[in-house]
Amino acid sequence: MDQRIKNVVILGGGTAGWMSAAYLAKALQQTVNVTILEAPSIPRIGVGEATVPNLQRVVFDFLGIPEDEWMRECNAAFKTAVKFVNWRTPGAGQATPRLFEGRPDQFFHPFGLLPSEEEIPLSHYWASKRINGETDEPFDYSCYREPAMMDALRSPKHLDGTPATYYAWHFDAALVADYLRRHATGKLGVVHIQDEMTEVVQDARGYVMALKTKGGRTLAADLFVDCSGFRSLLMNKAMQEPFIDMKDHLPNDSAVASAVPHDDATHGVEPFTSSIAMPGGWTWKIPMLGRFGSGYVFSSQFTKRDEATRDFCALWGLDPETAPLNQVKFRVGRNRRAWVKNVVGIGLSTNFLEPLESTGIYFTYAALYQLAKHFPDRTFDKRLIDRFNHQMETTFDDTRDFIQAHFYFAPRNDTPYWAANKELKLSDSFLAKLEMYKAGIPVNPPLTDEGGYYGNFEAEFNNFWTNGSYYCIFTGMNVLPERALPALTHKPEAIKKAEAHFERIREQQDELVASLPSNYEFLRRLHGLD
Ligand code: FDA
Repeated sequence: MDQRIKNVVILGGGTAGWMSAAYLAKALQQTVNVTILEAPSIPRIGVGEATVPNLQRVVFDFLGIPEDEWMRECNAAFKTAVKFVNWRTPGAGQATPRLFEGRPDQFFHPFGLLPSEEEIPLSHYWASKRINGETDEPFDYSCYREPAMMDALRSPKHLDGTPATYYAWHFDAALVADYLRRHATGKLGVVHIQDEMTEVVQDARGYVMALKTKGGRTLAADLFVDCSGFRSLLMNKAMQEPFIDMKDHLPNDSAVASAVPHDDATHGVEPFTSSIAMPGGWTWKIPMLGRFGSGYVFSSQFTKRDEATRDFCALWGLDPETAPLNQVKFRVGRNRRAWVKNVVGIGLSTNFLEPLESTGIYFTYAALYQLAKHFPDRTFDKRLIDRFNHQMETTFDDTRDFIQAHFYFAPRNDTPYWAANKELKLSDSFLAKLEMYKAGIPVNPPLTDEGGYYGNFEAEFNNFWTNGSYYCIFTGMNVLPERALPALTHKPEAIKKAEAHFERIREQQDELVASLPSNYEFLRRLHGLD
């Protein structure tokens, strides 16, 4: 008997829905019929999103879409790092860094792996120098080539299009959804139905047989993908899969957001996402041409919406009465299982972490990559489903812990919000990593070099936050290892070679500032404005 899946129905036409439609149609080489049901009257999320570098390779290269093409259609801009501002000093929301121990209260979390000597990453040579009082240079400026070019507002690409470093993108997710809709329907045969789902038809085993709509349609399929956003109409409602709320790790559950106009010609376009600490949370700043997306993420437990709105508007000089404000409520956590019977949840319907490290859309395509790999037939072999669920759960919980560490270790303790974050429990697996860090041992060192890591999504997926990321956040928050790695005292030759790396990084910083165009100039050319 032919057990192949023949029909897939996707519920929801946000970024997750359209990414799922395009990805699955391509990955399954059009051997299945993919239909997407979207209710135009139910709005989707699109707040001005930031991403991570593998988006191009895992999604757009896979779909055969050149970077310039989708960037043009989605008003996209570049992101070379996240810059954390005022996470160490008390005070009101302020976009410029205050002073902390004589230096600006800011640090970068760039992409890319650190060089290593004798299999010990450069971070550990830096830590040894720092602990021994041989340097007072911050970690990011010592070990990465990008901070200086970001200060100088340079593009991460040369004018001829050659990339100078790893980078990701800023865009409005709703524009990306529209772009992927055109691609999926125009090139991949995806059927688009605009109607509202009103009923889920299930068989006696609880498998979904069909979705019924307001317009009188019945959409039957073998496999259903729930991309209905926070409503989670299939996963939480029909399948009754419990949502594991992770407020006990990450208390933020609200945001007030807006698009803020910006004079690029005068001030340039920052090639990074900023994360600005606030009395009750933090504010993202995601620059695009002519404006930046911004939103204050806070916890309703500690900050009233009016107060957050006032502080957010004060930060950017907006008038709370007239500025177009988007008030968002979100849940943080994940469904116990991402795949149940013949329903897979992708996007906000299944998991969400507050956007501090720009992981929302990443979780969407990481899930699609895993779904294509574990794609079932109509027997829905439990072993495929269990493996998929395990992969998604591990990567999500690991990221939750990494994000929680930002709040837990931030030296700020000046408001009940910041104090409460210090009281929250860290997971056992995170505590084990912390002990490694304190003892001077690398945490999650990548098992391959940069080419192997970024060229192979499997390697990246299985070790997403590497030693360099942990070092950026720990040292940025002023948490140093308790001691240098003892083995280093027996490696004078490696220490000498590490000095050459530090020197080379300083040279590269100067070279990049001298040779790269401004981000503003590059983006204007890309978008055909010059
Ligand atoms: P979304 O809500 O957009 O879409 C749901 C879809 O379901 C809609 O098309 C709706 O019409 C449809 N629907 C609902 N009910 C229906 C029904 N009955 N019948 C038919 N259709 C129905 N991510 C990131 O990578 N970087 C970032 O910086 C951020 N920042 C960020 C900030 C905040 C405050 C939030 C809340 C989220 C982010 N994200 C993010 C997450 C990102 O915005 C999100 O992952 C994507 O937009 C995908 O959203 P979905 O498609 O899952 O849901």
